[in-house]
Amino acid sequence: SRTVRRNADGVVTVGGLDVTSLAEEFGTPAYFLDEDDFRTRCRSWKDAFGPDADVFYAGKAFLSRAVVRWLHEEGLNLDVCSGGELATALDAGMPAERIALHGNNKSTEEITRAVEAGVGRIVLDSFQEIVRVAHIAEKLGKRQRVQIRVTVGVEAHTHEFIATAHEDQKFGIALAGGTSQSEVGGGPAAEAVRRALKLDGLELIGIHSHIGSQIFDMAGFEVSARRVVQLLTHVRDEHGIELPEIDLGGGLGIAYTSDDDPREPHEIAKALNEIVSKECAAAGLRVPRLSVEPGRAIVGPTAFTLYEVGTVKELEGLRTYVSVDGGMSDNIRTALYDAEYSVALASRTSDAEPMLSRVVGKHCESGDIVVRDAFLPSDVAPGDLLAVPATGAYCRAMANNYNHALRPPVVTVKDGEARVIVRRETEEDLLRLDVG
Ligand code: LLP
Repeated sequence: SRTVRRNADGVVTVGGLDVTSLAEEFGTPAYFLDEDDFRTRCRSWKDAFGPDADVFYAGKAFLSRAVVRWLHEEGLNLDVCSGGELATALDAGMPAERIALHGNNKSTEEITRAVEAGVGRIVLDSFQEIVRVAHIAEKLGKRQRVQIRVTVGVEAHTHEFIATAHEDQKFGIALAGGTSQSEVGGGPAAEAVRRALKLDGLELIGIHSHIGSQIFDMAGFEVSARRVVQLLTHVRDEHGIELPEIDLGGGLGIAYTSDDDPREPHEIAKALNEIVSKECAAAGLRVPRLSVEPGRAIVGPTAFTLYEVGTVKELEGLRTYVSVDGGMSDNIRTALYDAEYSVALASRTSDAEPMLSRVVGKHCESGDIVVRDAFLPSDVAPGDLLAVPATGAYCRAMANNYNHALRPPVVTVKDGEARVIVRRETEEDLLRLDVG
């Protein structure tokens, strides 16, 4: 497991606070998020890309009012993909022009709210949506800035459910028609550009490509950048217009276990800038303004989940099942994507022999696994606290009420002080929705 900081008694500490007191004050399970770490990551993305690019934090990874304020203060923009995320962003004071709206099936209400609010861009994902957004903008007497999301035909090396730029999936508009990768001009994306340019309600500002998530290899991004520049070149040749922006999406991987070796923002920025400049120079294009949309790489490493052990079952010759007080309701990623996590005994140290363990939740199915394979000391016992690192992205965001579980709070830790930013759900919250 990853290195964790401990006090003299062997108790894991975060931001100067020990997990035993945190568990006492806030209960378990709970997510603890390091605000300074979040802000530092925002800054390193911002600095790496510099003033001629924009960093849009992907709110789907984790969004709350506090997060929106931090992003605002750190100069980041925000990508939202639903009315709920848009409402949170606006409520917490993110200027609309710094918001981008995404999604493959945005509702009329969502589009209307975004256009009315004046969001900086809407990313168009289908032919129907080109017309829909244009129509809504015209009705409101506005001209909406839009990008067209294309699929570039890259197979990102990641789990099937989170790879998005290969051909057979629901997002974006294909760059090339049929199986030919070279004929950009005859492909659906070039046709989408043609249609968007004709509509008064739209100001087409650029092309968008997001190839997947939890990616380590820059090769996919390079292909993506090259393909997007091919389309820009085609648009220049066909329409005499140089589209001013491109967005290369998010998807940069983080370290969940010590096997993962993530790229730093400055390496990513350097690689992307180089390939875009090189391709543009070759095509004789002005270099467009670049934007990226990291979610996981910003928030993922900033939080851990704290659980309390309830039962321990040793299965002779197999492994030991260590049950904690949460599970697939607060982290569904292991069950859904076979995601790997590490885990540490957090409330004490132990010299006991390590034993092959599986950390499981309290839900009513055997797939309810938090950490599939871990070595925990053989004296792990009820009442011990376990910390699972790197749960900042897509854990609270994908938390659910299976078995009427109450979704855990998010607590930020900064300068030796802990503060709830999303409170724990209560049975009253659950029953409030149940109006039968
Ligand atoms: N931009 C777009 C258009 C996206 O669809 C996504 C993620 C991102 C940016 C941010 O990607 P990131 O940098 O966070 O990888 N629930 C899955 C991840 C789904 C990602 C969906 N789109 C998981 O837990 O791994």
